[in-house]
Amino acid sequence: MMVEDNAHLQSLDGKACIVTGGTSGIGKETAIGLAKLRGKVTIIGRSKERCRSVTNEIISSTNNENINFQLADLSSLDSVRKLADNFAANNSPIDILINDAGGIFSRYALTEDGFESTIALNYLSPFLLTRLLLPNIEKSGSARIINVGSSVHKSGRSEFDFKFQGRYRAMKAYATSKLMVTMFTYSLARKLQGTGISSILVEPGFVATNLGRNSGSSLLSATFQVMRPFQISAYEAAKTPVFLSNYGTNEELNGKCFSRLKPIQTSMISYDQRLQENLWSMTSSALGLSADL
Ligand SMILES: NC(=O)c1ccc[n+]([C@@H]2O[C@H](COP(=O)([O-])OP(=O)(O)OC[C@H]3O[C@@H](n4cnc5c(N)ncnc54)[C@H](OP(=O)(O)O)[C@@H]3O)[C@@H](O)[C@H]2O)c1
Repeated sequence: MMVEDNAHLQSLDGKACIVTGGTSGIGKETAIGLAKLRGKVTIIGRSKERCRSVTNEIISSTNNENINFQLADLSSLDSVRKLADNFAANNSPIDILINDAGGIFSRYALTEDGFESTIALNYLSPFLLTRLLLPNIEKSGSARIINVGSSVHKSGRSEFDFKFQGRYRAMKAYATSKLMVTMFTYSLARKLQGTGISSILVEPGFVATNLGRNSGSSLLSATFQVMRPFQISAYEAAKTPVFLSNYGTNEELNGKCFSRLKPIQTSMISYDQRLQENLWSMTSSALGLSADL
């Protein structure tokens, strides 16, 4: 599969798209891209003010009125459950779920649920949200779940521990959370084989966004700032999740990773099915879910 840009994409024709992290960076540009393709886009964010402002901006820049938002603090599992309950209550199909929200945190902290904050936000939250939204996703008939990973997953720890005990380093915790996201995407793909739903990973590259600025570390923030000339824009990075929203077939996309519009391989360990299954069971159990879909 070789594609160069999104010029060829067909209309999403009112398909229901959810984008977590739609208030900033890659998620915001992805929401704009989906809105331009005439998707019905719901952005998920934690700030009402930012959600409202981005929603209005997307409506006025794309002339697509079918844009709305829902509030959720995705660091809180309770908030994720409430969000999923809202979708369950209206029983409507979800065609495209983009799990984009994420962060890096300079200091070690546990969330209200007792999990390390990077792992909670970047991994446990999209795992839980995806699992809880599956009934709505199954209603679509042909749906796509697109998780945003990172090439830094290669330096993640493979001794999984959701409290991330031991010496804390922000980039290590971040890399580990992205290794978990990578393995989750592949396990999910295997479990969804033949259902008409695909589970796809995107590694966006090194992108100029608010990620460093929101880390709580002036050093990380400065590093991201200094690296600006080497980063691609969020608009450029969003082209990949947008093209994955309606390019190709579910069969050819399921279980693949894409970066800059092309399929790529992830680290060798990320394909280890035994480790993937261990992580799946461990996560399901920590979140009070059955290991079976
Ligand atoms: N930038 C890169 O170089 C790069 C590289 C590889 C992967 N990624 C991944 O790309 C994704 C998007 O990041 P980005 O670079 O676009 O950074 P960003 O501009 O900081 O966007 C992060 C998004 O996540 C949201 N978010 C953070 N914490 C949240 C919470 N507790 N509840 C709900 N939403 C929350 C943010 O909302 P607010 O607007 O409220 O802050 C924002 O919309 C992340 O998964 C990141 O790991 C980024």
